[in-house]
Amino acid sequence: MNKKLMLNTFKIKSNDIPVWFLRQSGRHLPEYYEIRSKKRNFINFCLDENLIYESTMLPLKYYDLDAVIIFSDILIVPWAIERNVKFFKGIGPKLEPLLPGTKLIENLNIKNKLSPLSNSITNIRKKLVTSKSIIGFAGAPWTLACYMIDGQSSKDFIETRKAVWGSNKWFRKLLNCLTIYVTDILELQAKAGADILMIFDSWSHMIPNNFFQVCAIDPTANIIKDLKFRGVKCPIIGLPFKAGSSLIKYSYESTVDCISLDWTIDLSWADKNLNKDLTIQGNLDPASLIPNKSDLLKDNVLSILNKMNDRRFIFNVGHGLTPDCKISNVKSVIEIVKNYRMKESNCITI
Ligand code: CP3
Repeated sequence: MNKKLMLNTFKIKSNDIPVWFLRQSGRHLPEYYEIRSKKRNFINFCLDENLIYESTMLPLKYYDLDAVIIFSDILIVPWAIERNVKFFKGIGPKLEPLLPGTKLIENLNIKNKLSPLSNSITNIRKKLVTSKSIIGFAGAPWTLACYMIDGQSSKDFIETRKAVWGSNKWFRKLLNCLTIYVTDILELQAKAGADILMIFDSWSHMIPNNFFQVCAIDPTANIIKDLKFRGVKCPIIGLPFKAGSSLIKYSYESTVDCISLDWTIDLSWADKNLNKDLTIQGNLDPASLIPNKSDLLKDNVLSILNKMNDRRFIFNVGHGLTPDCKISNVKSVIEIVKNYRMKESNCITI
């Protein structure tokens, strides 16, 4: 009955709702620290076949989830194209800033460097029950460009935005170049056994509105077109994080199968205004999972589910789980979702 709940939801509306969480594997789980301590360098950690396997599967020890997301990082792509990427504890990623006008290396074969990622996915596919899906992912070209140009997380990504205005021709070339590498890493994950692919545009809310088409929508549509051309048939989830009014255009033109929404979006608005062909994912505020006890959590989860009665929907948070979120809260949310039934009249029972 619940066979491949997650994969089915891209096509048909069932009364069971699939559930998984952004950053479900990581620092809110105690064993993560033990696994993580096996490598000092985070990039090396992300390139160890066994450690990818262990961290990807770890959340299943606690939670009844319908999908696992491969443990990796979006900054593996800049690393693979020889940008100097380092992670610092308590600070985050640091990259050698890419200066506008710098020629980027094109036509690199990044797949050779990523064999631990593909081997690990193949191994996970062998061991994971087929009812659970594997999600592979990559950063969207815009978000990768943000880290590459500003060199770190930033409240405004001013260097990247300056480059959009001041070196537009170069910036577009950079996006085109990154589009190919993002397609390569997604293709590699699909061919190794990933069932679903996700494109994280975590900084899409930094794009000046008049450039949203060329910086977010076109690169995403080009990646999906190239993936199809290369024979990849997986459904694609897009996360245009906090993109606000641009979500409408994104939903019609990016060609994603599912749109992942942040916690500021009213789901009734989304149901009315976003492309009806798309599955919707997300929206729960990850901060609601932090307090030890919150009477509001259950009501909010039910309210999300009620608003999505007319939609194909994947239950998820609007952004990644934080290290201080409580396992008991995540467990109770899953229980609420699993016990909820969509209105029968709107569903096809599988
Ligand atoms: O469980 C999962 O979701 C899979 C793992 C995953 C990681 N990063 C592991 C990670 C995923 C899907 C990502 C994606 C990612 N990485 C994004 C897009 C999603 C989002 O959050 O918007 C972004 C922007 C990054 C870049 C990145 N990686 C930053 C800014 C940081 C440091 C900030 C932080 O949260 O510490 C990372 C490091 C990182 N990636 C960690 C983990 C578990 C923590 C590092 C550690 O354990 O030492």
